[in-house]
Amino acid sequence: MPQSDTAPESSEPKDEAPAPSLEKATGRTGADGVPAGKDPKPIDAAPLPKGGAPGITFEKVVKRFGSNVVLRELDFTVAPGERVTLIGPSGSGKTTILRLLMTLETLNEGVIWIGDQTLWHMDRGGKRVAANQKHLHEMRKQVGMVFQQFNLFPNMNVLRNLTEGPRRVLGVSQDEAVERARELLELVGLADKLNAHPTQLSGGQQQRVAVARALAMQPKVLLLDEVTSALDPELVVGVQDLLRDIANASDITLLCVTHEMNFARDISNRVLMFDQGQIVEEGPPEQIFGEPSEQRTRDFLQAVLAS
Ligand SMILES: Nc1ncnc2c1ncn2[C@@H]1O[C@H](COP(=O)(O)OP(=O)(O)OP(=O)(O)O)[C@@H](O)[C@H]1O
Ligand SMILES: [Mg+2]
Repeated sequence: MPQSDTAPESSEPKDEAPAPSLEKATGRTGADGVPAGKDPKPIDAAPLPKGGAPGITFEKVVKRFGSNVVLRELDFTVAPGERVTLIGPSGSGKTTILRLLMTLETLNEGVIWIGDQTLWHMDRGGKRVAANQKHLHEMRKQVGMVFQQFNLFPNMNVLRNLTEGPRRVLGVSQDEAVERARELLELVGLADKLNAHPTQLSGGQQQRVAVARALAMQPKVLLLDEVTSALDPELVVGVQDLLRDIANASDITLLCVTHEMNFARDISNRVLMFDQGQIVEEGPPEQIFGEPSEQRTRDFLQAVLAS
Protein backbone atom coordinates (compact mmCIF):
# COMPACT_ATOMS: atom_id res chain seq x y z
CA MET A 1 0.00 0.00 0.00
CA PRO A 2 1.47 3.37 -0.93
CA GLN A 3 2.40 5.62 1.97
CA SER A 4 1.96 9.35 2.18
CA ASP A 5 4.70 11.24 3.95
CA THR A 6 2.76 14.28 4.98
CA ALA A 7 -0.93 13.41 5.22
CA PRO A 8 -2.35 13.45 8.74
CA GLU A 9 -2.48 9.93 10.13
CA SER A 10 -4.57 10.23 13.27
CA SER A 11 -6.77 7.15 13.66
CA GLU A 12 -9.30 9.19 15.64
CA PRO A 13 -11.40 12.00 14.20
CA LYS A 14 -10.24 15.24 15.81
CA ASP A 15 -13.68 16.71 15.87
CA GLU A 16 -16.87 14.82 16.54
CA ALA A 17 -19.18 17.74 15.74
CA PRO A 18 -22.08 16.81 13.43
CA ALA A 19 -21.40 17.17 9.72
CA PRO A 20 -22.54 20.48 8.25
CA SER A 21 -25.68 20.25 6.23
CA LEU A 22 -26.07 20.37 2.49
CA GLU A 23 -27.24 23.96 2.73
CA LYS A 24 -23.65 24.93 3.39
CA ALA A 25 -22.58 23.36 0.17
CA THR A 26 -25.59 23.77 -2.00
CA GLY A 27 -27.87 26.35 -0.48
CA ARG A 28 -30.71 23.82 -0.30
CA THR A 29 -32.41 21.78 2.35
CA GLY A 30 -30.39 18.75 3.37
CA ALA A 31 -31.93 15.36 4.04
CA ASP A 32 -29.74 14.60 7.03
CA GLY A 33 -31.86 16.63 9.40
CA VAL A 34 -28.95 18.99 10.09
CA PRO A 35 -29.82 22.69 10.42
CA ALA A 36 -28.81 25.12 7.71
CA GLY A 37 -25.26 26.44 7.66
CA LYS A 38 -24.89 30.15 8.43
CA ASP A 39 -22.40 30.98 5.75
CA PRO A 40 -23.33 29.09 2.61
CA LYS A 41 -20.57 28.78 0.07
CA PRO A 42 -21.97 28.97 -3.46
CA ILE A 43 -21.56 25.68 -5.26
CA ASP A 44 -20.33 27.64 -8.28
CA ALA A 45 -17.18 28.46 -6.29
CA ALA A 46 -16.37 24.76 -5.87
CA PRO A 47 -13.57 23.21 -7.93
CA LEU A 48 -15.79 21.43 -10.42
CA PRO A 49 -15.00 20.59 -14.05
CA LYS A 50 -16.02 23.47 -16.31
CA GLY A 51 -15.87 23.11 -20.08
CA GLY A 52 -14.08 20.71 -22.35
CA ALA A 53 -15.92 17.55 -21.31
CA PRO A 54 -15.77 14.88 -24.01
CA GLY A 55 -18.66 12.71 -25.12
CA ILE A 56 -18.80 8.92 -24.97
CA THR A 57 -19.49 6.62 -27.89
CA PHE A 58 -19.96 2.85 -27.85
CA GLU A 59 -19.57 1.37 -31.31
CA LYS A 60 -20.67 -2.23 -31.74
CA VAL A 61 -19.26 -3.14 -28.34
CA VAL A 62 -19.32 -6.82 -27.44
CA LYS A 63 -18.60 -8.05 -23.92
CA ARG A 64 -18.71 -11.71 -22.97
CA PHE A 65 -18.08 -13.48 -19.71
CA GLY A 66 -17.40 -17.01 -20.95
CA SER A 67 -20.47 -18.02 -22.92
CA ASN A 68 -22.55 -15.24 -21.34
CA VAL A 69 -22.82 -12.46 -23.95
CA VAL A 70 -23.61 -9.36 -21.88
CA LEU A 71 -23.22 -6.60 -24.50
CA ARG A 72 -24.29 -7.45 -28.06
CA GLU A 73 -22.84 -5.01 -30.54
CA LEU A 74 -23.95 -2.21 -28.26
CA ASP A 75 -24.19 1.25 -29.83
CA PHE A 76 -24.93 4.41 -27.90
CA THR A 77 -23.63 7.95 -27.53
CA VAL A 78 -23.50 10.44 -24.70
CA ALA A 79 -22.89 13.97 -25.99
CA PRO A 80 -20.27 16.24 -24.38
CA GLY A 81 -21.68 17.53 -21.10
CA GLU A 82 -24.83 15.46 -21.46
CA ARG A 83 -26.33 13.64 -18.48
CA VAL A 84 -27.62 10.22 -19.32
CA THR A 85 -29.18 7.59 -17.10
CA LEU A 86 -29.10 3.90 -17.94
CA ILE A 87 -32.00 1.86 -16.65
CA GLY A 88 -32.68 -1.82 -17.12
CA PRO A 89 -33.16 -5.13 -15.34
CA SER A 90 -30.74 -6.57 -12.82
CA GLY A 91 -27.96 -8.56 -14.44
CA SER A 92 -28.46 -6.93 -17.84
CA GLY A 93 -24.95 -5.41 -17.98
CA LYS A 94 -25.26 -1.81 -16.77
CA THR A 95 -22.36 -2.04 -14.34
CA THR A 96 -20.33 -3.80 -17.00
CA ILE A 97 -20.77 -0.77 -19.29
CA LEU A 98 -19.40 1.53 -16.57
CA ARG A 99 -16.57 -0.84 -15.71
CA LEU A 100 -15.50 -0.96 -19.36
CA LEU A 101 -15.29 2.85 -19.30
CA MET A 102 -13.19 2.67 -16.13
CA THR A 103 -10.98 0.04 -17.82
CA LEU A 104 -11.86 -2.35 -15.01
CA GLU A 105 -13.12 -4.85 -17.61
CA THR A 106 -11.66 -5.52 -21.03
CA LEU A 107 -13.84 -5.42 -24.11
CA ASN A 108 -14.05 -8.28 -26.62
CA GLU A 109 -15.09 -6.43 -29.77
CA GLY A 110 -16.01 -2.96 -30.93
CA VAL A 111 -14.69 0.47 -30.07
CA ILE A 112 -15.30 2.85 -27.17
CA TRP A 113 -14.59 6.54 -27.76
CA ILE A 114 -13.99 9.21 -25.13
CA GLY A 115 -14.25 12.37 -27.19
CA ASP A 116 -12.20 11.83 -30.32
CA GLN A 117 -9.90 9.27 -28.73
CA THR A 118 -10.39 5.54 -28.58
CA LEU A 119 -10.26 4.10 -25.07
CA TRP A 120 -9.17 0.53 -25.72
CA HIS A 121 -7.29 1.15 -28.98
CA MET A 122 -4.55 3.41 -30.22
CA ASP A 123 -3.22 4.39 -33.56
CA ARG A 124 0.08 2.93 -34.71
CA GLY A 125 1.25 3.76 -38.20
CA GLY A 126 -2.30 4.45 -39.34
CA LYS A 127 -3.54 1.14 -37.92
CA ARG A 128 -5.86 0.72 -34.97
CA VAL A 129 -4.14 -1.55 -32.48
CA ALA A 130 -4.86 -2.60 -28.89
CA ALA A 131 -3.99 0.14 -26.41
CA ASN A 132 -0.83 -0.22 -24.34
CA GLN A 133 -0.71 0.53 -20.61
CA LYS A 134 0.47 4.11 -21.17
CA HIS A 135 -2.50 4.89 -23.41
CA LEU A 136 -4.94 3.28 -20.95
CA HIS A 137 -3.38 5.21 -18.08
CA GLU A 138 -3.80 8.53 -19.92
CA MET A 139 -7.36 7.75 -20.99
CA ARG A 140 -8.56 6.62 -17.58
CA LYS A 141 -7.51 9.94 -16.05
CA GLN A 142 -10.52 11.46 -17.79
CA VAL A 143 -13.05 9.17 -16.15
CA GLY A 144 -14.20 9.02 -12.53
CA MET A 145 -16.66 6.67 -10.89
CA VAL A 146 -18.70 6.51 -7.71
CA PHE A 147 -19.54 2.95 -6.71
CA GLN A 148 -22.54 1.45 -4.96
CA GLN A 149 -20.38 0.25 -2.04
CA PHE A 150 -18.32 3.48 -1.72
CA ASN A 151 -14.98 1.60 -2.08
CA LEU A 152 -13.02 4.07 0.05
CA PHE A 153 -9.49 3.05 1.02
CA PRO A 154 -10.27 1.65 4.49
CA ASN A 155 -6.78 2.16 5.93
CA MET A 156 -6.55 5.84 4.99
CA ASN A 157 -8.23 8.79 6.59
CA VAL A 158 -10.64 10.94 4.59
CA LEU A 159 -8.03 13.49 3.60
CA ARG A 160 -5.68 10.86 2.24
CA ASN A 161 -8.52 9.13 0.41
CA LEU A 162 -8.85 12.39 -1.50
CA THR A 163 -5.18 13.26 -1.98
CA GLU A 164 -3.66 9.88 -2.81
CA GLY A 165 -4.96 9.65 -6.39
CA PRO A 166 -4.20 13.26 -7.41
CA ARG A 167 -0.67 12.99 -6.00
CA ARG A 168 0.22 9.60 -7.40
CA VAL A 169 -1.72 9.53 -10.66
CA LEU A 170 -1.94 13.20 -11.64
CA GLY A 171 1.37 14.29 -10.06
CA VAL A 172 -0.30 17.11 -8.12
CA SER A 173 1.75 18.58 -5.24
CA GLN A 174 0.79 17.66 -1.69
CA ASP A 175 -0.21 21.25 -0.88
CA GLU A 176 -2.40 21.55 -3.93
CA ALA A 177 -3.99 18.13 -3.34
CA VAL A 178 -4.79 19.06 0.27
CA GLU A 179 -6.25 22.43 -0.69
CA ARG A 180 -8.49 20.85 -3.30
CA ALA A 181 -9.49 18.06 -0.91
CA ARG A 182 -10.53 20.64 1.68
CA GLU A 183 -12.63 22.54 -0.86
CA LEU A 184 -14.32 19.35 -2.02
CA LEU A 185 -15.00 18.17 1.53
CA GLU A 186 -16.62 21.53 2.18
CA LEU A 187 -18.70 21.06 -0.94
CA VAL A 188 -19.99 17.68 0.25
CA GLY A 189 -20.57 18.98 3.79
CA LEU A 190 -17.79 17.04 5.52
CA ALA A 191 -15.11 19.64 6.12
CA ASP A 192 -14.82 18.52 9.73
CA LYS A 193 -14.20 14.87 8.88
CA LEU A 194 -10.88 15.03 7.12
CA ASN A 195 -9.09 13.06 9.84
CA ALA A 196 -11.81 10.44 10.22
CA HIS A 197 -11.37 6.94 8.85
CA PRO A 198 -14.11 5.41 6.68
CA THR A 199 -15.30 3.06 9.47
CA GLN A 200 -15.99 6.13 11.61
CA LEU A 201 -18.44 7.55 9.06
CA SER A 202 -22.06 6.74 8.27
CA GLY A 203 -22.89 5.25 4.87
CA GLY A 204 -24.15 8.63 3.65
CA GLN A 205 -20.95 10.32 4.79
CA GLN A 206 -18.81 7.64 3.18
CA GLN A 207 -20.64 8.07 -0.09
CA ARG A 208 -20.16 11.84 0.04
CA VAL A 209 -16.45 11.28 0.61
CA ALA A 210 -16.50 8.92 -2.39
CA VAL A 211 -18.11 11.66 -4.50
CA ALA A 212 -15.44 14.13 -3.36
CA ARG A 213 -12.71 11.58 -4.05
CA ALA A 214 -13.96 11.03 -7.58
CA LEU A 215 -14.07 14.81 -8.18
CA ALA A 216 -10.57 15.26 -6.73
CA MET A 217 -9.26 13.48 -9.83
CA GLN A 218 -10.80 16.25 -11.97
CA PRO A 219 -12.58 13.82 -14.28
CA LYS A 220 -14.25 15.03 -17.45
CA VAL A 221 -16.63 12.08 -17.36
CA LEU A 222 -18.35 10.92 -14.18
CA LEU A 223 -19.93 7.48 -13.80
CA LEU A 224 -22.44 6.78 -11.03
CA ASP A 225 -23.38 3.19 -10.29
CA GLU A 226 -26.39 2.79 -8.00
CA VAL A 227 -24.81 5.31 -5.67
CA THR A 228 -27.63 5.38 -3.15
CA SER A 229 -28.80 1.78 -3.12
CA ALA A 230 -26.59 0.84 -0.15
CA LEU A 231 -27.76 3.82 1.93
CA ASP A 232 -30.38 4.02 4.64
CA PRO A 233 -33.55 5.56 3.15
CA GLU A 234 -33.23 8.82 5.08
CA LEU A 235 -29.79 9.47 3.60
CA VAL A 236 -30.71 8.82 -0.02
CA VAL A 237 -32.20 12.20 -0.90
CA GLY A 238 -29.27 14.14 0.56
CA VAL A 239 -26.73 12.32 -1.60
CA GLN A 240 -28.97 12.52 -4.68
CA ASP A 241 -29.50 16.26 -4.21
CA LEU A 242 -25.78 16.79 -3.79
CA LEU A 243 -25.05 14.93 -7.03
CA ARG A 244 -27.74 16.81 -8.92
CA ASP A 245 -26.32 20.12 -7.75
CA ILE A 246 -22.81 19.08 -8.72
CA ALA A 247 -24.07 18.04 -12.15
CA ASN A 248 -25.92 21.35 -12.55
CA ALA A 249 -22.90 23.39 -11.48
CA SER A 250 -20.38 21.65 -13.74
CA ASP A 251 -20.06 20.71 -17.39
CA ILE A 252 -19.14 17.14 -16.61
CA THR A 253 -20.41 14.37 -18.88
CA LEU A 254 -22.48 12.08 -16.69
CA LEU A 255 -23.47 8.45 -17.15
CA CYS A 256 -25.60 7.25 -14.29
CA VAL A 257 -27.06 3.83 -13.48
CA THR A 258 -29.93 3.83 -11.01
CA HIS A 259 -33.09 2.04 -10.00
CA GLU A 260 -34.36 5.27 -8.45
CA MET A 261 -36.59 6.67 -11.13
CA ASN A 262 -37.07 10.04 -9.41
CA PHE A 263 -33.31 10.48 -9.31
CA ALA A 264 -33.05 9.51 -12.98
CA ARG A 265 -35.72 12.07 -13.84
CA ASP A 266 -33.98 14.67 -11.72
CA ILE A 267 -30.42 14.27 -12.90
CA SER A 268 -30.63 13.31 -16.57
CA ASN A 269 -31.30 14.92 -19.92
CA ARG A 270 -31.87 11.53 -21.48
CA VAL A 271 -32.71 8.01 -20.34
CA LEU A 272 -31.57 4.82 -22.06
CA MET A 273 -33.56 1.66 -21.45
CA PHE A 274 -31.09 -1.20 -21.71
CA ASP A 275 -31.86 -4.91 -21.87
CA GLN A 276 -30.34 -8.07 -23.29
CA GLY A 277 -27.18 -6.36 -24.38
CA GLN A 278 -28.74 -3.52 -26.34
CA ILE A 279 -30.58 -0.22 -25.98
CA VAL A 280 -34.30 -0.93 -26.20
CA GLU A 281 -35.52 2.66 -26.14
CA GLU A 282 -34.22 6.13 -25.38
CA GLY A 283 -35.61 9.59 -24.83
CA PRO A 284 -36.02 12.46 -22.40
CA PRO A 285 -37.05 11.35 -18.88
CA GLU A 286 -40.60 12.70 -19.33
CA GLN A 287 -41.08 10.51 -22.37
CA ILE A 288 -39.49 7.32 -21.03
CA PHE A 289 -41.25 7.54 -17.68
CA GLY A 290 -44.46 9.13 -18.97
CA GLU A 291 -45.08 7.56 -22.35
CA PRO A 292 -42.66 4.70 -23.01
CA SER A 293 -43.18 3.31 -26.50
CA GLU A 294 -41.74 -0.17 -25.95
CA GLN A 295 -43.56 -2.90 -24.05
CA ARG A 296 -40.25 -4.00 -22.52
CA THR A 297 -39.81 -0.53 -20.98
CA ARG A 298 -43.39 -0.49 -19.70
CA ASP A 299 -42.95 -3.91 -18.07
CA PHE A 300 -39.66 -2.88 -16.49
CA LEU A 301 -41.04 0.38 -15.10
CA GLN A 302 -44.10 -1.40 -13.73
CA ALA A 303 -41.88 -3.93 -11.98
CA VAL A 304 -39.67 -1.21 -10.49
CA LEU A 305 -42.62 0.80 -9.27
CA ALA A 306 -44.20 -2.31 -7.72
CA SER A 307 -41.03 -3.22 -5.80
N1 LIG B 1 -16.49 -10.57 -13.46
C1 LIG B 1 -17.51 -11.28 -13.96
N2 LIG B 1 -17.36 -12.57 -14.28
C2 LIG B 1 -18.38 -13.28 -14.81
N3 LIG B 1 -19.60 -12.77 -15.05
C3 LIG B 1 -19.80 -11.48 -14.74
C4 LIG B 1 -18.78 -10.67 -14.17
N4 LIG B 1 -19.27 -9.42 -14.00
C5 LIG B 1 -20.54 -9.47 -14.41
N5 LIG B 1 -20.87 -10.69 -14.86
C6 LIG B 1 -22.16 -11.10 -15.42
O1 LIG B 1 -22.51 -10.13 -16.41
C7 LIG B 1 -23.90 -9.88 -16.37
C8 LIG B 1 -24.11 -8.40 -16.23
O2 LIG B 1 -23.69 -8.00 -14.93
P1 LIG B 1 -23.77 -6.50 -14.44
O3 LIG B 1 -23.19 -6.46 -13.08
O4 LIG B 1 -23.18 -5.64 -15.47
O5 LIG B 1 -25.34 -6.27 -14.41
P2 LIG B 1 -26.19 -5.02 -13.90
O6 LIG B 1 -27.11 -4.63 -15.00
O7 LIG B 1 -25.28 -4.00 -13.36
O8 LIG B 1 -27.07 -5.66 -12.71
P3 LIG B 1 -27.59 -5.00 -11.35
O9 LIG B 1 -28.74 -4.11 -11.72
O10 LIG B 1 -28.05 -6.17 -10.53
O11 LIG B 1 -26.45 -4.27 -10.72
C9 LIG B 1 -24.47 -10.75 -15.27
O12 LIG B 1 -24.97 -11.93 -15.85
C10 LIG B 1 -23.28 -11.04 -14.40
O13 LIG B 1 -23.44 -12.26 -13.75
MG1 LIG C 1 -24.97 -3.22 -11.46
